[in-house]
Amino acid sequence: MFERLFIVPQDPLLKLINEFKQDTRQQKIDLGVGVYRNENGATPVMKAVRIAEERLLTSQQSKCYLGIAGDLEFLDMLGYLVFGGIRPKKSRFAYLQTPGGSAALRLGADIIKLSTPESTVWIGDPSWTNHIPIFTAAGLHVKTFPAISADKTGLDLDQMMSTLASTNAGDVLLLQGCGHNPSGMDLEAQEWKQVADLCVEKGIIPFLDLAYHGLVEGLEEDLKSISQVMEVVPEALVAVSCSKNFGLYRERTGALYAMAPNIKKAEISLTNLFALARVSYSMPPNHGAAIVKTILKNEGLKQEWEQELFDMRNRIKNIRKELHLQLTQVFPSSLDKGKGMFSLLPLTPQQIDKLKLDHGIYMPYSGRINIAGLNRNAIPAFVKSVSTVAQ
Ligand code: LMR
Repeated sequence: MFERLFIVPQDPLLKLINEFKQDTRQQKIDLGVGVYRNENGATPVMKAVRIAEERLLTSQQSKCYLGIAGDLEFLDMLGYLVFGGIRPKKSRFAYLQTPGGSAALRLGADIIKLSTPESTVWIGDPSWTNHIPIFTAAGLHVKTFPAISADKTGLDLDQMMSTLASTNAGDVLLLQGCGHNPSGMDLEAQEWKQVADLCVEKGIIPFLDLAYHGLVEGLEEDLKSISQVMEVVPEALVAVSCSKNFGLYRERTGALYAMAPNIKKAEISLTNLFALARVSYSMPPNHGAAIVKTILKNEGLKQEWEQELFDMRNRIKNIRKELHLQLTQVFPSSLDKGKGMFSLLPLTPQQIDKLKLDHGIYMPYSGRINIAGLNRNAIPAFVKSVSTVAQ
């Protein structure tokens, strides 16, 4: 059996993480992987998370299985955080806890393949690098639509909508809820409305990937996608990740919420989701979900978490602003138009290689930078390096 396997090239982002780790230069800068970093370049355990963990250590009585759905209280609390405004429809939701947002996306892909295998999944170009692989691995047909303008400086809604005019009823539209990875170019509230109307008009099923909730404009503001879309469509899928906003990356904490047209269909969908999960990871890990539940259930801890999230968001905003100010003097920058942790720099692969080799600055070949990877002191050196390689 093994003789028939060939080496698969390592995922470029994971390769970059390893290369950065091995680089012994003091002044190296990691703008690669999409994790939040503080002013000292660390990704610390959030304070509220630490307190919740301490409480769990003394209160948890068992490590026995919780069941295939995971922690139901966690799912309710997270569901309330994300869908608070559209609670009346809650009975039409089928939901389960998943090992991170990635497994929620894969489970969503699996249930699409099971129910409507002929559906095409429409994914933005560019999008998160693992989006297309996840949906093709599930055996689905994928097509792309332009998610940024041709000059890469903004979002061209007309171009996006004209491509999506060729969708068929039953097709799936994958959209990132907020803080677009990799471009940082989000739809405005009014534009979300237009997309929502298109979904209704054409019978497209929206699949929202919410990985940066609270890290863009605010916990409420970042949900304009969810509210505009879910209010009008009869069916939708939502993948939620707690990796970034709770800093729980390695704890694999997420959930999939499927909104069905009625209660009966929601019940049927849930049995299918359970069956799909059972033959994959079987039951989700608990620790991260227990932490999130502990925080969301306790007003004091929740406030602590919200404050830290606010500080993280502000740091990202300030770095973006400062970087734009300095970069725009020497290099084309559209950082001021984007939001959240990411932005695309119009650099060639050769320039990106030079940044890595000559300056110890790491970013993927797409030119995506994780803004949180910079701090105020590093900005001038970064800008100087970019202008040197771009000459
Ligand atoms: C990223 O986009 O860098 C992160 O979400 C990490 C990953 O899994 O790709």
